Amino acid sequence: MRFAGLGSAVLLASLLALVGVCSGRSDAPRGVAVGFVFDPKARCDPPCEHAGICIRNNTCFCSRGYEGETCQYANCYPKCKNGGECLRPGKCRCPPGFGGRYCHKVTCDAGCWNGGECIAVNGVAKCICPSSWTGSKCQEAICPQGCRNGGICVAPGICSCPEGWLGGACHTAVCAQPCLNGGKCISPDKCRCRPLFSGPRCGERKKSH
Ligand SMILES: *[C@@H]1O[C@H](CO)[C@@H](O)[C@H](O)[C@H]1NC(C)=O
Repeated sequence: MRFAGLGSAVLLASLLALVGVCSGRSDAPRGVAVGFVFDPKARCDPPCEHAGICIRNNTCFCSRGYEGETCQYANCYPKCKNGGECLRPGKCRCPPGFGGRYCHKVTCDAGCWNGGECIAVNGVAKCICPSSWTGSKCQEAICPQGCRNGGICVAPGICSCPEGWLGGACHTAVCAQPCLNGGKCISPDKCRCRPLFSGPRCGERKKSH
């Protein structure tokens, strides 16, 4: 009856002490058996947190995974990396750009496309792109030859050309009707004529005055 009202914490602490004694017998210096003095009248103010037990005045016996004067801090083993915060034992809250159980993995929020690799550069997650791709997500193809005349690079080295242009860099104009008399197609359906010739297809001989 004397212990009535002290609650389950007392029972738990007694049990823990007992376990300590038992393991202490078989494996001498380990555990908390020696010197584990539990005062049932002990007061801890502020109280022990996270199911810690007040074993002596202002001394908390913390449950597994917690530490600190009042067992206020959670332990994370391994420690949270890259500035992660230990929320509860084994659970890290990771800063943006990091993930994984211990915040040890970098995550590129939008992903890395086309074989790009997400790595941390000075603590910032970043896509490292294969040589023929660029952009924050490696979403832009590189056309080393350039895409001229309004062409768009759609895949490494491949230009998509507007109508009227052809060639790897969209550099060749197309004249639906060929230019005559040595004239040259200089833009879609536009011929540049040699001297003495004129007309849309250089088909007319100039009159000399
Ligand atoms: C613990 O504190 C209480 C008062 O808060 C006091 O009466 C008691 O003697 C203390 N116990 C020890 C072992 O110092």
